Amino acid sequence: MSELRERLRALPTFPETMPSLDPEGVPTHPLALFTAWLDDAIASGERQPSAFTLSTIGDDGAPASRTLIVKDVDERGLQFSSNRGSRKGQELEARPVATALFFWRELGRQVEVSGFVSEMGADASAADWRERPSFSGEPNPDWVLWALDPTRCVFLQATLDRKHVRVEYLRGGDGWEHQQPTTTAG
Ligand SMILES: Cc1cc2nc3c(=O)[nH]c(=O)nc-3n(C[C@H](O)[C@H](O)[C@H](O)COP(=O)(O)O)c2cc1C
Repeated sequence: MSELRERLRALPTFPETMPSLDPEGVPTHPLALFTAWLDDAIASGERQPSAFTLSTIGDDGAPASRTLIVKDVDERGLQFSSNRGSRKGQELEARPVATALFFWRELGRQVEVSGFVSEMGADASAADWRERPSFSGEPNPDWVLWALDPTRCVFLQATLDRKHVRVEYLRGGDGWEHQQPTTTAG
């Protein structure tokens, strides 16, 4: 066995104490659960709880992923920002769909949010640019604030026995429905 392989298997995993997830007691709207979990992650003291992985799809059908910061969450969805000319900007222009993946280590929680992406408009984008810590007073017309409007959300609460609890929300014609996925989780 290689030394790296042994060290990887010996790494600590989930915290000894984690919250529980009762699939029967979740709210009707997934963004209500999402904001509650984001609040919990902020309160846990975890560094950069607003960081997430955004995956987009390229011309060749291949996914590309990168870390971003979520800027706000409201009825329009999860808001994030970047340059229009970036790879993600170009891919969102061509295919306005994406998946956001959050992992909150201190709580053993993961949330996957997939849906349609749209621009929040020039004023909101300019305001977001001005509020960045590195803002120097120069406008950036290439800067865009987008919203990811979810159609599918999967919440996972890890457990020490690895019988992780998941709740999948799907948006249909009659609004949101949720269930526990029948596929297995490792
Ligand atoms: C913790 C963290 C947060 C980041 N937040 C942002 C962000 O909010 N917006 C952004 O454009 N890039 C952010 N980046 C950089 C992106 O991960 C990425 O490298 C960059 O946006 C170019 O991505 P693209 O070429 O795939 O479009 C962040 C990186 C890290 C590590």
